Amino acid sequence: MTPRARRRAVWRPIRDPEYQFFDQLPPPSAMLDEVIAGLTEQPKRIAPKFFYDERGSRLFEAITRLPEYYLTRTEMGLFDACLPEVHDRIGEGGCLVEYGAGSSVKIRRLLEELLPAAYLPVDISRRHLEQSAQALHADYPNLSVYPMCADMTAPFELPEVVAGLDKLGFYPGSSIGNFEPGEARAFLRQVAATLGAGGHLLIGVDRKKDIDVLEAAYNDSAGVTAEFNLNILRHLNSALATEFDPAGFRHRAHYNEGSGCVQMFLESVKDQSSRVDGRIIEFTQGELVHTENSYKYGYEQFAELAAGGGFKVEASWSDADDFFTLFLLRAG
Ligand SMILES: C[S@@+](CC[C@H](N)C(=O)[O-])C[C@H]1O[C@@H](n2cnc3c(N)ncnc32)[C@H](O)[C@@H]1O
Repeated sequence: MTPRARRRAVWRPIRDPEYQFFDQLPPPSAMLDEVIAGLTEQPKRIAPKFFYDERGSRLFEAITRLPEYYLTRTEMGLFDACLPEVHDRIGEGGCLVEYGAGSSVKIRRLLEELLPAAYLPVDISRRHLEQSAQALHADYPNLSVYPMCADMTAPFELPEVVAGLDKLGFYPGSSIGNFEPGEARAFLRQVAATLGAGGHLLIGVDRKKDIDVLEAAYNDSAGVTAEFNLNILRHLNSALATEFDPAGFRHRAHYNEGSGCVQMFLESVKDQSSRVDGRIIEFTQGELVHTENSYKYGYEQFAELAAGGGFKVEASWSDADDFFTLFLLRAG
């Protein structure tokens, strides 16, 4: 993007602002294969991307407003210090690519402070993506909006329409923590290739901290995280006609100190079986199905991970308690 001082007088949208929806989501048969593969492993697992149908996306938004869930408010509390500096470093008029866009609360701050020409939210939750992208298109008439429905854990192409624009990636919420560290490096390498050499990535990272604070964030007293966790079964039932009984499972989350990650599971409350596309999957009482990891990082530990993913740390912003850090990375 062109730096602010030179850009202010001359910047114009590169074309009339437009809205175009891109769909690169794999077919339901691929989703089914992945679910069956995970449920026939020992221990059983279901990937966290399957939390997100429209209800799952709304439940996640409710989580971000919970008193125990410090992540969202701490990350957004860093924006006042971070965004003006990001603006000065990268300038205006480029393309802002948001990975795992979800709700558009955070992105509105970025759009207003960074003034990109185009916004390209990538998300697996089609209806939620479409609704929030259309709302942004209505609210920001100078902005081209190009929502892309895709599974970002697999390689995907940015559309030709943003080819000529400098790219700033935005990956908030410490969603990078959902990957195993090796997968996170591979994902970052893929992001670096998509953004191109010199492209930037603003990424939110949850830091290691007191276990009680971490565990409370994933075991809220209102039970919203439990409902979110169980929604993975409801989503599979409606998308793939599986026959899980959500009442037969309960939410479990704890911090695994050895691996530095909060792990979420669904625990089977009884011996039971569920039909998945003609197969019968058996669960024993007390059996845990792994649904999510949320890795927490030390500062240097994350900088090393980023380097392995093809990025250099250009700047960072942390809160006074070092609960959360926003890193501005540059693809080398
Ligand atoms: C934890 S939420 C974060 C939402 C928001 N960015 C924030 O920081 O609050 C994760 C988001 O990523 C999306 N998502 C999860 N896995 C995905 C995948 N494999 N590909 C694309 N989007 C994914 C979900 O639909 C959801 O909107």
